[in-house]
Amino acid sequence: MCGIIGIASNKPVSINIINSLKKLEYRGYDSAGLATLTDNTINEKKCSGRVEELEKILFKTPSNGNIGIGHVRWATHGIPNLVNAHPHSTDQVSVVHNGIIENSDELKKELEAEGILFKSQTDTEVVTLLITEALKKNNPLNSVFKTLKKLKGSFALGIIFKNFSNIIIGARRGSPLAVGYSKEENYIGSDSYALKSMTNKISYLDDGELCLLTKDEVSFYDANLKKINKKILTMSENDTSTDKGEFKHFMIKEIVEQPDTVRNCIDEYVDSLKKNINIFNFPIEPQKINKIILIGCGTAYNSCLTAKYWFEELTSIDIEIDIASEFRYRKLKFDSNNLYIFVSQSGETADTAAALDICKKNNVKTCSIVNVIESTIARNSDWVLPIHAGIEIGVASTKAFLGQLTVLYILCLKLAFIRKDIDEKTYIKKISNLKKLPEAIKRCIKNDSNVQLMAKEFASAKGSMFLGRGSSFPIALEGALKLKELSYLHAEGYPAGEMKHGPLALIEEGLPVIVIAPKDKYFEKTISNMQEVIARGGKILFITDQKKESLNENIRFGFRVPHIDNLLSPMLLTLPLQMLAYHVALLKNCDVDKPRNLAKSVTVE
Ligand code: AGP
Repeated sequence: MCGIIGIASNKPVSINIINSLKKLEYRGYDSAGLATLTDNTINEKKCSGRVEELEKILFKTPSNGNIGIGHVRWATHGIPNLVNAHPHSTDQVSVVHNGIIENSDELKKELEAEGILFKSQTDTEVVTLLITEALKKNNPLNSVFKTLKKLKGSFALGIIFKNFSNIIIGARRGSPLAVGYSKEENYIGSDSYALKSMTNKISYLDDGELCLLTKDEVSFYDANLKKINKKILTMSENDTSTDKGEFKHFMIKEIVEQPDTVRNCIDEYVDSLKKNINIFNFPIEPQKINKIILIGCGTAYNSCLTAKYWFEELTSIDIEIDIASEFRYRKLKFDSNNLYIFVSQSGETADTAAALDICKKNNVKTCSIVNVIESTIARNSDWVLPIHAGIEIGVASTKAFLGQLTVLYILCLKLAFIRKDIDEKTYIKKISNLKKLPEAIKRCIKNDSNVQLMAKEFASAKGSMFLGRGSSFPIALEGALKLKELSYLHAEGYPAGEMKHGPLALIEEGLPVIVIAPKDKYFEKTISNMQEVIARGGKILFITDQKKESLNENIRFGFRVPHIDNLLSPMLLTLPLQMLAYHVALLKNCDVDKPRNLAKSVTVE
């Protein structure tokens, strides 16, 4: 969603604001802007479009202030245009905002009734005008505090003040906000990544908290405006993969990184010498776990659905999964022997974070499987299992998906062994097979040329279907999601066994249908479903781990992945689908790393 940056310095800040906004581009946005304080005047610059446009404006008309805020906007209220771009300013105050003020219409009506005029259609401008009004009788901190009490919904705010030219105030409720520290400079930012080029010393605001920073110091306040202290974290340096290197896009770089990221993840959890998995500090005694509920959104949900098959196969634990935006509104029956696991690459997804909050309020044990260990979801969980995939910039998740699957599989193995659902021989064999996964991934990725041929079939098609059974069904969902979000083509993932209950009507001459059929207990059944599709003219692209395609000439394309262990097939079967989506997007000249309408971290509902 939107990205925020604020800098209080002893030197002009606009260049660093621009550089930080470029770091936030991965979040997806449609306009950008900044405001600095120069000689007690708020100097606002905005553009609809990329940060480069804003940079050009600054070249023509430089802003020299030592205090400033910046923003990249992903429209939630009001169309993406110049007027609605952030910051939103009066002559007294300038504000940048990430989140949604749910009662903004009501507040806007109250202000308009007092004769106050609005320029934009945004909820953020309501905040600006409320603070401006409050400033008539209060200092900046109290003005912000009184304003926040009137707001419903989520926000991360950055605010500067005309008559207080040395401070920036930040506030957080529901949308993440980080504070960074440096010599003679301090910062606020939507995430640590925005601040990475300026500091590795970071604190995080929790919901309801505010911060007031100058170039020399930072103060924190709780939801009752009581001064508090915050821990200063030193960010990990290994997340240095912040440029594309020799790759054309972050997405293909991250696909190619997968053998290494999966190896790193396995090495973090598996003791190769002792052939054991180093997961110990369970929040619930493993033998007492009755049920595990896996919760996520999008790709993260697809990893949960895949893991369901592993837990059912290897453990005696009852397993349930849910989409976070559904889970959070259900009438739930909580049980202290249930373990609630939240899967999230960013660790900031609003629905997933809200679902976690509900569990915390019901005093049940929570675990998060995340890629960003400083994230909100990680910090609010009883237990964190990082996926160690390194920063994932491409909006379409690839290496994080494999990281999520790897950690879920490792957790499942560990629980199965501790609970004696599998014997030591099986446990050690499964660990040994897992260690072969990175090399098998590498062999899949090398087979890229075959995928490029497959891509042409899709680029000209009006739609497609992805079919699978068992743990290949969530891989079909994930493959369809990748194609949709990267190439804007309609694609549907479906359980192969369900085709005859309606979707078979979609099949017509030449429609591309991906059939995912590893040699498992579903293989023969999936082949029958495939024959039903062929009989109606569907064009089959067949993905399997069969040594040879024991199938007829009606297969338009075949892609074979290595076979290690049936349970590890999902990690391999997903690779050609990632590459397929990437190549179709290239053929259709789509913005691979920043697909339209999407954001890397969905921090609004
Ligand atoms: C992934 O390709 C998608 N862009 C999207 O579905 C993503 O998985 C979803 O928004 C959840 O994000 P999270 O893992 O950061 O919570």
